[in-house]
Amino acid sequence: MSALDPLWARGRAFLGTETAIMGGAMSWVSERHLVSAISNAGGFGVIACGSMTPELLDAEIAATKALTTKPFGVNLITMHPQLLELIAVCVRHGVGHVVLAGGLPSAAAVRAVKEGGAKLVCFAPALVLAKRLIRSGADALVIEGSEAGGHIGPVSLAVLAQEILPVITEVPVFVAGGIGRGEAILAFLEMGAAGVQLGTRFAASAESIAHPNFKAAFLKANARDAIPSVQLDARFPVIPVRGLANAGTARFVEHQAETIRRFQAGELDKEQAQLSIEHFWAGALRRAVIEGDVEQGSVMAGQSVGMVTAIQPVAEIIAELIAQADAAFAARATVRQPDASIEAA
Ligand SMILES: Cc1cc2nc3c(=O)[nH]c(=O)nc-3n(C[C@H](O)[C@H](O)[C@H](O)COP(=O)(O)O)c2cc1C
Repeated sequence: MSALDPLWARGRAFLGTETAIMGGAMSWVSERHLVSAISNAGGFGVIACGSMTPELLDAEIAATKALTTKPFGVNLITMHPQLLELIAVCVRHGVGHVVLAGGLPSAAAVRAVKEGGAKLVCFAPALVLAKRLIRSGADALVIEGSEAGGHIGPVSLAVLAQEILPVITEVPVFVAGGIGRGEAILAFLEMGAAGVQLGTRFAASAESIAHPNFKAAFLKANARDAIPSVQLDARFPVIPVRGLANAGTARFVEHQAETIRRFQAGELDKEQAQLSIEHFWAGALRRAVIEGDVEQGSVMAGQSVGMVTAIQPVAEIIAELIAQADAAFAARATVRQPDASIEAA
């Protein structure tokens, strides 16, 4: 029994889990081992489909099912050219929850998820979009602050939570970005969140297949080392991604400067220059996560990386988070007791 039980009852009922802790989908990291470990520990694992083909996703779901009988979800990127085929794979497997990330989903994608019998989870980057997503059929929302690892929006979770949680009550809202301890989980649940989503802490777990170099970089890093990608010129937009500063992030700035110089010298047209900047990071997350090149690769990490202090099994991480939340709840009750010595004075 935890103090969180009544607070996250709605989130648990929605996910079908013991705790309303979602494992944020992380490309290359959130595969069968981590996803099943999170679900087996009472959380909700989510497979990151990323750029997988329908055949690969089919195999990943089957392999995950072999490792857990608990519920798990699948995160699909809306820009994937085979999105509808990927949804069909999820439906065929009876996946209960499909998370659509990376932009507003099309009506066809929403229909395919819902007619297939799965619950639809969407990312809401602002209040107006949250309302629109609910109108178009989202069964739950994730609000992800700019503290998060990976692709980020401009607004912190501290602000998004205040804007969205008091207003959106129609569907459960899960919060993500920068959560590393149980005290924060308690606070967001008390603000009205149905549950939480963590990425960085699980990426460094014992069950994560991330390369030992990747986990070592997480252990070493402080919050301030997890920085958003830098854009040099408004004419050449850079999608903001939060990750650890390294030789690759420094080289990216130089690459932009050189590309802009070549554009101004007439050596590249605007489209070629933009593509050259966009292609810089192609394959870079895999290089860091799988090959362990944490100098040139993309070491995506949230500001919560400063709270990664050991490589722990997922079950231990979840138990620790709940214990911290319970201790905070209990401490508060003590503080509220009138102090007799103060009253006597
Ligand atoms: C290495 C890494 C890769 C990620 N890849 C994805 C992804 O493919 N799709 C997605 O929706 N979110 C992705 N995210 C975001 C996570 O799902 C999660 O929302 C985020 O990590 C939460 O913030 P936190 O890291 O501070 O816990 C990624 C995050 C990290 C750290």
